[in-house]
Amino acid sequence: MSLRRAQWAVVGDTFPVGCKPSDKIVYPEFFEANPDTKDERYNTKYGVYEPNCGLRNVHMSWGHDEYLYHMMKDYLPESALYMMRYHSFYAQHREEAYDHLMDDHDREMFKYVRLFNPYDLYSKAPVPPNVKELKPYYQDLIAKYLPATIKF
Ligand SMILES: [Fe+2]
Repeated sequence: MSLRRAQWAVVGDTFPVGCKPSDKIVYPEFFEANPDTKDERYNTKYGVYEPNCGLRNVHMSWGHDEYLYHMMKDYLPESALYMMRYHSFYAQHREEAYDHLMDDHDREMFKYVRLFNPYDLYSKAPVPPNVKELKPYYQDLIAKYLPATIKF
């Protein structure tokens, strides 16, 4: 596989699908290889969306943000869900490249996404964490906020 055909493998940032990808997304040059960029249904500023339709109506690229959001959506408060679902959406929370899809509620909730950001990239310690030592702390948190069995 050539590098030019590997856009699907560009991960890290998440972004809306179904509309023109912003050049603020990491490695924007790889989107040229995505067939959606040649499809007039998906390659315009709004694509399949209405102006300021709200992110609840926007399909995001798949990644651990989206996975965790779907696993937690029945259990955690909305502010926490926004932090999970959009923490890799750097093109918006850092660059504001998708403001045209956001509604006022999203803008309010993105305050929490930005508050979480210092704990995302480049926040890792050089020494691996001591799992045995930390596990009780995280198990207490899980027990506090989640039922013993979660829906899958
Ligand atoms: Fe992450």
